[in-house]
Amino acid sequence: MGSLKTEDELEMESTDPILYVNGVRRVLPDGLAPMTLLEYLRDIGLTGTKLGCGEGGCGACTVMVSYFDRNSKKCLHHAVNACLAPLYSVEGMHIITVEGVGNRRHGLHPIQVCAFVGSTLFAIDSVL
Ligand code: FES
Repeated sequence: MGSLKTEDELEMESTDPILYVNGVRRVLPDGLAPMTLLEYLRDIGLTGTKLGCGEGGCGACTVMVSYFDRNSKKCLHHAVNACLAPLYSVEGMHIITVEGVGNRRHGLHPIQVCAFVGSTLFAIDSVL
């Protein structure tokens, strides 16, 4: 009969840096230290997170970063500018990108509908 391992035991076994992106566990290979979270997300094909200003001013690269805070024993969620976040600064955390909040097959999230309608109205407005 096997025994269940505690969270700490599981954490001590794994030495590979990991993170979760839209619910998928990903092991971070060596050599990505100079990379930002935004560069990593786009490299793995999540191009909904955009590079706008690249200096924290526009919000085009905003993602939600979630983690469990051991002190408060709560899951905390923060909006983060991925263009400024070093990749390893979110090690062990859960990243939700715009692709992770909804899709055409399972239904769009209201924020995705607003973004589409907003960009369409912006495009029409710029033509007129
Ligand atoms: S690209 Fe503008 S805030 Fe990140």
